Parts: sequence; C-alpha cells; structure tokens
Amino acid sequence: MSRNTRKREGFSSGLAVFFATLSSAVGLGNIWKFPYLTGDNGGGAFLIIYIAFALLLGIPVMMCEFYIGRSTKRNAVGAIDRIKPGSLWKIIGYAGLLSAYLIMFFYSSVAGWVYSYIFKSIRGTLSHLSTEDIQSIFDKTVSSSFEPIFWQVFALAVVGSILVLGVRNGIERLTKILMPILFILIIICDIRALTLPGSLEGIKFLFYPDFSSLTKNSILIALGLAFFKLSLGMGTMITYSSYFTDDNNMLATSLKVAFSDLCISLLAGIAIFPTVFTFGVKVNSGPGLLFKTIPLVFSKLPFGNILMTMFFILTAIAATTAMMSIVEVTVAILTEELKISRKSSVMLNCLIIAVFGSLATLSSSSSSLLADIKIFGKTFFDFFDYVSSNVLLPLGGLLIAVFTGYIIKKEKFIFEISNKNSLEQKYAFSLLFILIKYVTPFLLLIILLNSLSLIN
Ligand code: PHE
Repeated sequence: MSRNTRKREGFSSGLAVFFATLSSAVGLGNIWKFPYLTGDNGGGAFLIIYIAFALLLGIPVMMCEFYIGRSTKRNAVGAIDRIKPGSLWKIIGYAGLLSAYLIMFFYSSVAGWVYSYIFKSIRGTLSHLSTEDIQSIFDKTVSSSFEPIFWQVFALAVVGSILVLGVRNGIERLTKILMPILFILIIICDIRALTLPGSLEGIKFLFYPDFSSLTKNSILIALGLAFFKLSLGMGTMITYSSYFTDDNNMLATSLKVAFSDLCISLLAGIAIFPTVFTFGVKVNSGPGLLFKTIPLVFSKLPFGNILMTMFFILTAIAATTAMMSIVEVTVAILTEELKISRKSSVMLNCLIIAVFGSLATLSSSSSSLLADIKIFGKTFFDFFDYVSSNVLLPLGGLLIAVFTGYIIKKEKFIFEISNKNSLEQKYAFSLLFILIKYVTPFLLLIILLNSLSLIN
C-alpha cells in the first residue's frame, strides 16, 4: 500500500484515549508552571479564576478541537482543509504549528533541567544541603553553556525515539503505563510535604483567596495557563482526537481530563508550597521554584534520595509525554501534508527544536550567555513562553471556537459528538454549542484585547 492509502493509526480503546489525552494535558504546566504562577499571582484567588477559565473557555475549546479532529481524522492543517477546503481558516493549523515550535523551544529546555536533576539526585549531589546551596546549584545548572543544552538534546532524543514507534506502539503503550505511576508518586510526595511543620501555611497560601493581589496581568496569565495546561489552542487536541475511537464519549473524556489535570496540579502545589514555607524559599521565586524546593522536601528524610529521584523521574515522565503531544502536531502535519515518512518527520522536527531551543536555554537565567539579547524587552526564553502561552494559544482558541460555532452546522456538530445520536445527553450538547457560539469567543476576545491593552 502506498503511504497515502495506508490505514491511519489510532488508539485502541477508551482507556487509551483517556490516558493519552491526559498525558498531553499533564506536564510541566502542572508541576512546574502552575505552582510558580500561583505563587507569583497570589495563591487561592488565582486558582478560582483559573478554574472558571478552564470550565467556561477550556472545555468548549477542547470539544471544538475534538470535533475537528475526530470527524476528519487528519492533522491540524489537513483537518481544517477537509471541513472548509481551500479557505483561509487553514491558518488555525499553521498557527498551531508555530505555537508548537515556540512552546517546544523553551519546554524542552526546562525538560532538560528535569533530566539533569534526575542524574544529580542519583549521584547524591542534592542531599543534605542548605536552602542557599540548593539555590546556587540551580543557578549554576541553568546558566552554564554546555550542561543544559546537553540535557535538552537528551530530552528531545527520548521524545523522538518514542514518537518514531508510532501512535499505538509509542504514544499509547507508554502513556498507559506512565500515567498511573505518576499519580502514585505525586501522592507519596504529598504525604511527605503535608507532614512538614510549614504545611498549614503552605496549604492556606494555595487555597486562601486573596483578591487584592490579583492584577489585570494575572487574569491573562490564568487564561494562558488554562490553555497551556489543557493543551488547547494549537491543534494538539485536534491531532490526538484524530486518533480517537469512534465510540468515545468525548464530552465525558474532556471533563474527566480537565478534572484529573486540575487534581494533579493541586497535588503538585500541595507537594511544593508547604516546603516553601517550611524552608523559607521565596514564594515568588519564578521558574526555579520547583528545583529549589523539591530537593529540600526530601533531603533530610530516610530514603530521601530515592524519593527525590522518583519525583524528578515523574516530572520527566509528565514533561516527556506532554512533549510527545506537542511534537506530534508538527510530525502529523509534515508527514501527511508533505507526504514524508514518519521517521524523517520526527527527525526533522527534533532538529529544528534543538537548534532554536538552544536560544531559550542560553537565555534562561540572568547570567546565561544570551541573557542580554532582548526581543520586545524579553529574553528568548521568556519571549517564546509569553508569546505562545499568552497570545498564540488564546488566539488559536478564539479562532477554533469561531470556526466551530459559525462555520459548522449545529446539527453536524451534535451528530458527531453524540456518536451519531447514540449518546443521550442532547441537552448538554446543545448547551455546549451555545457556549461555543455565544460565550467562549466573546470572553476570549475581551480578555485578549484587554490584555494587549487594545481596550480597557
Ligand atoms: N499541557 C502541557 C503541560 O501542562 C503543555 C502543552 C501545551 C502540551 C500545549 C500540548 C500543547 O505541560
């Protein structure tokens, strides 16, 4: 069979669909970004806004992506083209491609730090150190010119080798094993954190809503985080849902994924904030928060080194499975649109990411080699992060919601998500379509314009 007519791969069961989708959602967004952004933006109040955005904007956009992907069974560019051939709407797919690259440039860099911390904890470099020593190890790790690049390339090589195996043998097989392990390990870390003396203060910080510390910018950040954490606005969910089984209840999947994703973020916050207060790390220590706190949680504990190694292995798992889903967007587009082999597509994409990603790595701390080069006042690292999370993902989400709400007929949408009218929840599906058409895009537009200071 030629490459074009060969049967397209897909996931084998509902469980595989759930784990794969969750593995995309759960990543550094939960374990690294969520705690430090919550810390920077005032704890509980930020959490409430985040949850509201995930429900009102996240779930509807996820359902649009699921509709587009499963009804066409194509990559993000090809899917839109199949629904509206030859139209400009294809820009959704190309914008997704751009976001995927920008996110990977800095994401693979942080994933590299995580891999290097696995190695450091196995060697015992992080045990029995003071808060200051742990902080200076982090600063040294990220600002050197060779070490973080080496680990970034290593992380990309892991992602590439799994993706080459394909959708079922690679993505499905790995995520089904790794997601349950991740969950168990996070619980173990939480139990340890909750028995620290500062645990009450940490939990209060995470859950107590102090609205006075919210700024206009925090609202945009919460929106960006909701999209980032749920892997929305850039075609990841279009791509993954193109591999879904036809009998999957996609609304149930989206709710289960969003709920589990939130739980894992909270569990990560519970592992981190008690330590912050117990050991006097600054709550708003930015991207380094995770790396400055976790070694302290475990270092003075019996078998602490083993636990710490496990924690970083799990963070690496989360990062790796999320990266698989980001790179898969680019792999599917190149494979299907340019008709090249999966293997060449994976290698080409990893190469592009390694080259530009090194710019992020070499600008990630104030003493890095490229720290002084600024684009719009931001370092490469911050620029890639800010533009992708806070501009491109919400903008992509807006376009996806408008496309679904105004180009696709309501009956067609409901027919697909109700599995050809075989699911009962008619009422919920209609309500969802109303949200997609009249609520989600307007809210997204207002927040985006406001945050870009175009309206007030
Ligand atoms: N959701 C992933 C995380 O939380 C990141 C991601 C963003 C994955 C966008 C896919 C698309 O880390």
